[in-house]
Amino acid sequence: MSLSRAARIILVGAPGVGKGTQTERLMKRFPELSSISSGDLLRLNVRNRTPLGIQAESKMKAGTLVPDTMILRLIINELTNRGWLTSDTIRPYTIYSSSIGMDSDDTVDSVFIPSPLRTQKYNYSDSPSASFILDGFPRTAAQASRLDELIPINLVVNISTPTDIIIDRICNRWVHAPSGRVYNTTFNAPKTEGKDDITGEPLTRREDDDPEVWKARLKSFEETSLPLLEHYDKLGVLWTVKGNSSDEITPRLFKEFNRRFGVLEN
Ligand SMILES: *[C@@H]1O[C@H](CO)[C@@H](O)[C@H](O)[C@H]1NC(C)=O
Ligand SMILES: *[C@@H]1O[C@H](CO)[C@@H](O)[C@H](O)[C@H]1NC(C)=O
Ligand SMILES: *[C@@H]1O[C@H](CO)[C@@H](O)[C@H](O)[C@H]1NC(C)=O
Repeated sequence: MSLSRAARIILVGAPGVGKGTQTERLMKRFPELSSISSGDLLRLNVRNRTPLGIQAESKMKAGTLVPDTMILRLIINELTNRGWLTSDTIRPYTIYSSSIGMDSDDTVDSVFIPSPLRTQKYNYSDSPSASFILDGFPRTAAQASRLDELIPINLVVNISTPTDIIIDRICNRWVHAPSGRVYNTTFNAPKTEGKDDITGEPLTRREDDDPEVWKARLKSFEETSLPLLEHYDKLGVLWTVKGNSSDEITPRLFKEFNRRFGVLEN
C-alpha cells in the first residue's frame, strides 16, 4: 500500500498498550513509513562519538536530562541526512565546541537554532517517501511546539485501552522461579491457584507486574500525556482509537491511515 503524501505521525499510548506492535504493523503495511526513535538516535550518536553524542553523554553522566534542544538537533540531523529537511544556511561547525559546558536549555537553544530564524531556515519534504513515525519525542506540549516550528506532525494517534484491561493483560503472569515456568491466569492457568503444576511450589509475580505499581504508572502517564494530546487536538491532528487489544486496534488504525494518506494499490 503506498501513500499519497507524507505521513508524519506520533503514537501516544499508555505503557502496555502496544505502541511498538502498532508501529511494526504500520511499517509493514506501508513500507514508505520509517520509524525515527529519539532514543536510538541518541545511543547511535553516543556510540559514534559525534560532537552531539559526546555532549549528550556528558549530560547523562552528570545525571541531568539531555536538553530538548539536543534531542531536537538529533532529529534535525537525521531528517537532514535523509534529505527530508533542508536548511538554507549551513551552521558553522564550531558551534558545537562553543556550547560545551552550557547548562541552560535556552542558551543551548540560541546556539543551535537562532529562534527568530527558525521557521525560515528549514524546509521539509512532503513526498510520501518522507514519511515517519516519531518515537520518544515530543513528550510534552512544550517540546511539541518546538517540533511544530520545524516540521509539522500531521497525525497524532491517541491509542486508548481501558486501564483495567491493560492491567489484566500485564498482571496475570505468575512464575515458578526455580524452573522459570510461566503461567498466565487467563490462558494458561496453573491447576491449583498460586502453585506450580509440577512441584506444587508457590508461584510468584514479578514486582513490575504488581497491579498497584501499574495503576500508578498508568495514572501518571494519563496526567503527563494530557497536555501533549490537547496540544495536538487544538491543531486538529489528533485522532483517538479505542480497543481492548492490539488486534482490535490495528484494523481501525489502518483504515484511518488509509483514509488520510493512502492511495489504492495497483
Ligand atoms: C496471556 O496469554 C495471552 C494469550 O496467549 C496473551 O495474549 C497475553 O499477553 C498473556 N499474558 C501475559 C502476561 O503473558
Ligand atoms: C484520548 O483518549 C482517551 C481515552 O478514550 C480520552 O478520554 C481522551 O479524551 C482522549 N484525549 C483527547 C485529547 O482527545
Ligand atoms: C472491551 O472492554 C470493555 C471494558 O471491560 C467492555 O465493556 C467491552 O465490551 C470490551 N470490548 C470488546 C469489543 O470486547
